[in-house]
Amino acid sequence: MNDNDTMKRTFASSIDKTNIGQNLTFIGWIEDFRDMGKIGFISVRDMTGNFQGVVTGELLSNFREIPRQSVIMVNGIIQETRAESFQVEVKVEKVELLSKAANPLPIDPTGRVISSLDKRLDSRALDLRNLRISNIFKTRSNALYLIRKYLFSKMFVEVNTPKIIGSATEGGADLFGFEYFAKKAFLAQSPQLYKEQLTLGLERVFEISSYFRAEPSHTVRHLSEFVSVDLEAAFLEYGDVMDIIEDLVISTIKDLYANYNNQMKHFDDSQDILVDKIPRITYEKCLEDLKSLGEKIEFGEDLSDPALRKLGETYPKFYFIVDWPTKLKPFYILEHEKKSELSKSFDLQYGYLEIVSGGTREHDSARLKNKLQEKGLNPNSFSNHLQTFEWGMPPHSGCGLGFDRFMMILTKSTNIREVVLYPRDTERLSP
Ligand code: 4AD
Ligand code: MG
Repeated sequence: MNDNDTMKRTFASSIDKTNIGQNLTFIGWIEDFRDMGKIGFISVRDMTGNFQGVVTGELLSNFREIPRQSVIMVNGIIQETRAESFQVEVKVEKVELLSKAANPLPIDPTGRVISSLDKRLDSRALDLRNLRISNIFKTRSNALYLIRKYLFSKMFVEVNTPKIIGSATEGGADLFGFEYFAKKAFLAQSPQLYKEQLTLGLERVFEISSYFRAEPSHTVRHLSEFVSVDLEAAFLEYGDVMDIIEDLVISTIKDLYANYNNQMKHFDDSQDILVDKIPRITYEKCLEDLKSLGEKIEFGEDLSDPALRKLGETYPKFYFIVDWPTKLKPFYILEHEKKSELSKSFDLQYGYLEIVSGGTREHDSARLKNKLQEKGLNPNSFSNHLQTFEWGMPPHSGCGLGFDRFMMILTKSTNIREVVLYPRDTERLSP
C-alpha cells in the first residue's frame, strides 16, 4: 500500500490531466456546494487540498441534504474543467455520506464568516479545517523537526526530564503545586537543574517539552503551559550558545522558506524574518539607546514592557541583549570575573518579544551555594542538585527558547494563543 491508496482513495492534490477518463474514489469534507438547478459544483477538501466535483441528475438531491463539513466518499470520472483553480474535475457518479456534520456549526472554518479567537479556540478541532490555521500547526511540526535535526547535527542528545518535581526548579514562587500521594509536588517551570546535571554524563543535551508557570499574566505572549526548547552544553561559553542559537534560528527560517513554502506563503510573502546575522547589543548600550528615546532606566533595573517596545522600534528584528546586571539573573548564572555586577547572560529578542534566555552557568559548588543564599533561597532544598557539582561538573552554558513565541514570529501571529492548539491561561482550562 502506498500513500495514495489508503482506503483505496485518491488524494485531491494528486490528480491532473494524466488522470482524465479514470474512475477514482476520494474522501473528504464538503467545503462548498453551489447549486445551479440542473448542475451543482462541490468543493471537497482532504489533507492535501481541494478538488471540484460536478453533480448532475438524481445525485443533486442527495447533495442538497448533506450539510457542509460533512465527510463524504465520492466516486467519479476525471474530466477536463473550465474552472481556473483546478486542472481537472470529478464527474460524480456515486456519493456516500460517512459522517454528517451539524448545521449550523459553531464557527465557519472556511473563514468566510469571521469568528473571534475565543470562539475559535472553543471549537479548535473544527478551526483546524481552515487552511491557514492547519498550516500554522504543520509549520509547528516542521519547525520542531528542523530544530531537532539541527541540534542532532551539533551532537546534542535529546533527553526527557521529570515534569513532576519535589521542589522549585529555579526558585521563585510561580509554580503550580499539587498533592502527590502524601507529599507536596510541583509542575516543572523549566528543566534547568536537570539539564545542567546531565552535562556531566552526556556533555550536550536538549529537551523539548511543556513547562508550567503559575504567573497570573494577561498578555498575548504568556501562557501557563508553554513549550520550550532547552539546551545545555559542557565546555561552551554563552557566546558559543549564542552562535548556536543564531545559526539554529536563521537556518530553521531559511529551511522553512526553502522546503515548506507552500505552508509559509499563508503567513508571509515578504520573508522579512529572514536575516543573515543577529546583532549582539549590551544591556548598557540598550540603556543608552533608551535614554536617547526619552526612556530613562537606571542600571540594574529590568527592561520594562514599554522600554522593550521602544527598543523594538530601534531593533525591529532579531537581536541579542547581552551582559545583563547580575542581580537581574537567576542564581545559576555566572558573573564576569572582572566586573561582577555584570553577568554572562543573554536574551534573544524579536522586536519587543523575548524569545530566548541563556548564559554561562556557575559550576563551582561553594560559589553556587553562596549565590542561592544571596538570592534568598535555601541551599538545603537544593542538596540533591548541589551534590552533583562534586562529581566532576564541567563548566557549562545553555539556554531556553520559547518555542510558542518563535512560532508567533514564523507565522506572523500577534497572539501566542494562535499558535498553540489548546492554550492554557488564567481563564482557559478547556477544551
Ligand atoms: O526566560 P526563561 O524564564 O528562562 C528559563 O526558563 C531558563 N531556565 C532558560 C535558561 O536556560 N537559562 O524562559 C525561557 C523562554 C523565554 O525567553 C520565553 O520565550 C519562554 O521561555 N517563556 C514563555 N513563553 C510563554 N509563556 C510563558 N509564560 C513563558 N515563560 C517563558
Ligand atoms: Mg527570560
